[in-house]
Amino acid sequence: MSYRKIQESLKSVPTIEGAGVRLKRAFGHAELPRFDPFLMLDDFHSSDPADYLAGFPWHPHRGIETITYLLEGVVEHGDSMGNKGTIEAGDVQWMTAGSGIIHQEMPKESPTGTMWGFQFWANLPAARKMISPRYQEVKAADIPEVVPPGGVTVKVIAGTVNGVQGPIKDIVIEPELLDITVPAGTRYEHLLPGGHTAFTYILSGEASFDESGKGYRRETILLFQREGDLIKVETRQEPVRFVLASGKPLGEPVAWGGPIVMNSKEELQQAFEEYGKGTFIKQ
Ligand code: CO
Repeated sequence: MSYRKIQESLKSVPTIEGAGVRLKRAFGHAELPRFDPFLMLDDFHSSDPADYLAGFPWHPHRGIETITYLLEGVVEHGDSMGNKGTIEAGDVQWMTAGSGIIHQEMPKESPTGTMWGFQFWANLPAARKMISPRYQEVKAADIPEVVPPGGVTVKVIAGTVNGVQGPIKDIVIEPELLDITVPAGTRYEHLLPGGHTAFTYILSGEASFDESGKGYRRETILLFQREGDLIKVETRQEPVRFVLASGKPLGEPVAWGGPIVMNSKEELQQAFEEYGKGTFIKQ
């Protein structure tokens, strides 16, 4: 068994998306293809409703899966498949856009005064880009929590930890998505699936994530090298909370146009033509 080393560290960067939502982008188009099979991670974190109420009105997606994990606040959503509802603190929605979906995601004023959530984009391989769209929603209460020794807590959204499987299943890139809290003065090791791309995004506190012992803080994204089996997390005076994600790399060409991600320019052009003609939705 060997430890994975950190390949690079980045800080999330303020940007504006949707109809004027102020958010922080941990990684995205500029980092292609280093996080393959992941395309993007956005961090929505604000106590000013003016930063988020404009939301993400009706827009299409094709060729990807989007995963939204909400820590605080309320987001209303609706889509072309007829799904409609509200996600709240701790809830997860996992949307397979596949051949095409049109949806909207509209944050409401948060009851706590703060809206905090994440959206991950996971790519689909060429052979699965045009699969039927699918929507999975998991309530906070249905996300299992594993408690390894040392007072560590692991919320298992996707993947398996200590024999406990997360509720999000049958995803093409075989992802793990974990929300982990490690108390102060504690060491925690996690075995990663071999060869998978893995990264962590720090939500609060401080910890080291490899043998160098260097400490990292919130809003830092760490991409691990593919070689190695385990990640080692070590805290000192403070606890740390972070999201850990891993997935099977695709190694395919990426043609990315806004909310649509295909393998070639022709496929992108076709998608936008179909959207313009009203033939975008296949099922
Ligand atoms: Co969207």
